[in-house]
Amino acid sequence: MTRESWQTRIGFILAAVGSAVGLGNLWRFPWMTSDNGGAAFLLVYLGVVLLVGVPGLLAEFVIGRRSRRNPVGALSDLSESSAWSAFGHVFVVTAVILLSFYSVVGGWILRYFAGSFTGAYFAAPGAYFESINYGVEAVGFHLLFLGVTALIVLRGVRRGIERATKLMMPAIVVLLLALAAWGVTLDGASEGVAFYLAPDIAFLQANFLNILPAAAGQALFTLSLGAGTMLTYASYLGEDRSLAADGTAIAVLNTFVGVLAGVVVFPILFALGVGAGGGGPGALFVSLASAFAALPYGQVVGVVFFGVVVLAALSSSISMLEIPVSFLVDEYGLSRRAAVGGLTGVFAVTGAVCALDQGVFGFVAGTLVDLLLTGGLVGFMLFAGWVLGADAVTELQGGSGPLARSLATPWLYAVGVFIPVFLIFTFVSGLADAAG
Ligand code: PHE
Ligand code: NA
Repeated sequence: MTRESWQTRIGFILAAVGSAVGLGNLWRFPWMTSDNGGAAFLLVYLGVVLLVGVPGLLAEFVIGRRSRRNPVGALSDLSESSAWSAFGHVFVVTAVILLSFYSVVGGWILRYFAGSFTGAYFAAPGAYFESINYGVEAVGFHLLFLGVTALIVLRGVRRGIERATKLMMPAIVVLLLALAAWGVTLDGASEGVAFYLAPDIAFLQANFLNILPAAAGQALFTLSLGAGTMLTYASYLGEDRSLAADGTAIAVLNTFVGVLAGVVVFPILFALGVGAGGGGPGALFVSLASAFAALPYGQVVGVVFFGVVVLAALSSSISMLEIPVSFLVDEYGLSRRAAVGGLTGVFAVTGAVCALDQGVFGFVAGTLVDLLLTGGLVGFMLFAGWVLGADAVTELQGGSGPLARSLATPWLYAVGVFIPVFLIFTFVSGLADAAG
């Protein structure tokens, strides 16, 4: 059986943007931003996306397109080393970890989406979250979210992932623009916009080293880096197109949606008077739900907002499921149906564990994910820099214009040496920070 490929270039780009744009932009980003000083965080984050995110994305693209395989097959094929092949299996673990907690949050969102129609959370938004966050109901909605994810992935790269993301992405952008237009007209919205877009330079100077690890972690998470997702998506590229141009477009679009999401969220929070909030993963839901309950047209806005989040989450969760699916199909010759079925069974259980236990959830969604993504991306970059070397430069140059061609060699040094050193340094200093 021949391996599938994307039908169109824009299909590939939208699928990759679909993977990137997700709960990372709509839930984790506002939460990180409010915990780290607002616009100061945004500034550092944008720098990291440009200097670490884009080169890192290209490392995954280069490995994926060159090998036309899943992460495990790619690393073992291109290196012919059993150590790299063993390292490749880490990405299967990463996918399990990611989707396990992501599907739980996806379930919460489905619950809020339904609750916006019925008005279920309007009377007591705080108590509502407490009643659905961990427990049997959370397991149920996790299974629902996982089931929809599985149905899309089951239909394959073209008919499932490409078609679904082609519909979802424009819808997300249009609806977010509408929400932003509504949000900035609210009383008090301008303070939210200022908190979000006007950096406090003194704060930035004083806290730069504390902000950096959070910004780096967020940049990797939001660009879906270090998990093998982007590698896998690039492995379905048929012909040589400019990876550099596509990668830049994906990073720009993801950043645009992320910033736009902030323009939606912060005015709503400030208009309600809850300010930047902060305070953990659930806080954003509670604050937003309170805002929808209190503001004019809140119910309609709630339906639209949580609808957008559902779409964004699904277009990301399918990319997580596709990693181990491609692994089982490429390496063990399983049918897509068998691979999706078997893996969904596994995720049903691992996700249920996260849905039942807040402690497990917090550990998985926080430290463990950061560790796996950082380690994973460092591995991909070292692989591109030291194992592929000159071949990586050739691969990046294939289909590219003169600018990308001349930047290919500096890029190789960046991913082979400088960025890994930077990421390891930031990660360790972040740990030290958390411990001290
Ligand atoms: N980028 C996705 C988001 O922001 C999360 C993700 C991480 C998806 C890693 C795939 C791989 O929601
Ligand atoms: Na998405």
